[in-house]
Amino acid sequence: MSRSDVFRRVASAAGAGLAALVLAGCSEAREPAAAAPAQASATAPLRAPDVRYEPSPHRVVRAMLKLGEVTDKDIVYDLGSGDGRLPIAAARDFGARGVGIDIDPKLVAKARENAQKAGVADRVVFRNEDIFIADFSEATVVTLFLYPDVNLKLRPKLLETLRPGTRVVSHYHDMGDWPPKTQIRVQDRDIYLWVIPPRP
Ligand SMILES: C[S@@+](CC[C@H](N)C(=O)[O-])C[C@H]1O[C@@H](n2cnc3c(N)ncnc32)[C@H](O)[C@@H]1O
Repeated sequence: MSRSDVFRRVASAAGAGLAALVLAGCSEAREPAAAAPAQASATAPLRAPDVRYEPSPHRVVRAMLKLGEVTDKDIVYDLGSGDGRLPIAAARDFGARGVGIDIDPKLVAKARENAQKAGVADRVVFRNEDIFIADFSEATVVTLFLYPDVNLKLRPKLLETLRPGTRVVSHYHDMGDWPPKTQIRVQDRDIYLWVIPPRP
């Protein structure tokens, strides 16, 4: 709707004085001064990250995706995606679609750049979001390299929002008293696989 349409509607409802006030508010919202905080937040994490950035070694990445039996039918979500290596490898080497979610916009930008370089930018998406708020319920495979307490905090959300049969693969850390279906060791790192059970 054009500004004049807005003006006409507001004017007929509440008088021209009120309309002028509303329009003044609209113009203020477009002033450059409002852009400063948005620019600052484009490079700062949304909040303090729950886990410090550390990339999984490439051999571990490959082993995680193999353990999750990723195929071209899958949509692989890496929760805390860093430089994007897991979704990128899922798309490039296993034909899947990939989604990475990271709280740090600089890492999201780096991951998008890496996806371009790897030639898979059409099949991977990186989102600057908090994994505790983000919707990842469409995933068929979820990968994690977080901390033990963060895995535990995420566990109810995994169990409640992922479809039964979805595979969850974690590098290094387990899920407390939820026993893995399979556990392997690669490059001195433990990798765990769980499958979301049917709803009770
Ligand atoms: C140990 S790194 C793992 C990176 C990548 N998954 C890998 O295996 O190479 C953990 C990542 O989680 C991100 N992170 C930490 N807390 C987060 C949160 N609440 N939501 C989204 N990302 C988060 C960090 O910015 C970091 O990139």
